[in-house]
Amino acid sequence: MRIGIIGAGLIGGTLARKLASIGHQVRIANSREPSSLTEFKNDDGITPVWADEVADGADIVILSLPQKAIGALSESLRSTLMSVPIVIDTGNYYPVRDGHIDALDQGTADSEWVAGILGRPVFKVFNNIGAPSLKYKGTDDEGQKLGLTVAGPSGEDKQKVSELIVQLGFDPVDGGDLGQSWRLQPGTPIYCKDMTADEMRAGLQQTTREDIGKYHEDRDQIEDFDAAMKKVGEFM
Ligand SMILES: NC(=O)c1ccc[n+]([C@@H]2O[C@H](COP(=O)([O-])OP(=O)(O)OC[C@H]3O[C@@H](n4cnc5c(N)ncnc54)[C@H](OP(=O)(O)O)[C@@H]3O)[C@@H](O)[C@H]2O)c1
Repeated sequence: MRIGIIGAGLIGGTLARKLASIGHQVRIANSREPSSLTEFKNDDGITPVWADEVADGADIVILSLPQKAIGALSESLRSTLMSVPIVIDTGNYYPVRDGHIDALDQGTADSEWVAGILGRPVFKVFNNIGAPSLKYKGTDDEGQKLGLTVAGPSGEDKQKVSELIVQLGFDPVDGGDLGQSWRLQPGTPIYCKDMTADEMRAGLQQTTREDIGKYHEDRDQIEDFDAAMKKVGEFM
């Protein structure tokens, strides 16, 4: 498939390499010019492009951005995204990084908010697995396959996203529709815990909205979010 990725960081960059390694044609962009993406110069199947070009002719576009960057996507890109069959959002709202966004503080699910900004449905995937686990792990310490949640509208497209998860070596877990996708967000029992699919399904039943607010209150104490993320990058 032709897969466009906007955001070439820990998650976007990892997905680009994994998807290219299983035969997908990947176009990737960051917020700058394509020549800034030198890290992909030896990767077959990955073409750096401008963000506005990522969605051209794509079967799937993956948005892997800080939440605050969604509103900064150009009109022209948003218009092209309207004709892309599947758009995936890997994002999570972190007020400590993104600043406070009223609708999200009031409980709109992160990816439901993204879908509202874009004016089209998205699937929430790859948001609750840490980048090192996405890169190196498909199984837990006992060799059991790890689950990966997908939330979004039911139907053929969700099935295709689930098949992509299988291709990447994980076990898809239905996380419900976008309205329910808060159950996959930071602070919930299944967030970045490297669980099997069955453990995730059980965890989803135990999730409460209070988990999320409490988590962000704690994260608000992090003085330098970027430095904390750099530490995650050291495991890559
Ligand atoms: N890190 C994790 O383990 C993890 C796990 C699950 C989900 N997530 C979530 O997934 C999303 C991406 O996380 P990440 O850790 O991969 O972030 P990251 O390493 O900080 O990378 C962010 C990428 O987004 C690009 N970007 C920012 N604004 C942009 C814009 N307006 N247009 C185009 N590209 C833009 C950046 O480009 P520049 O370099 O040019 O700024 C960079 O390539 C976040 O919402 C995060 O919360 C992260």
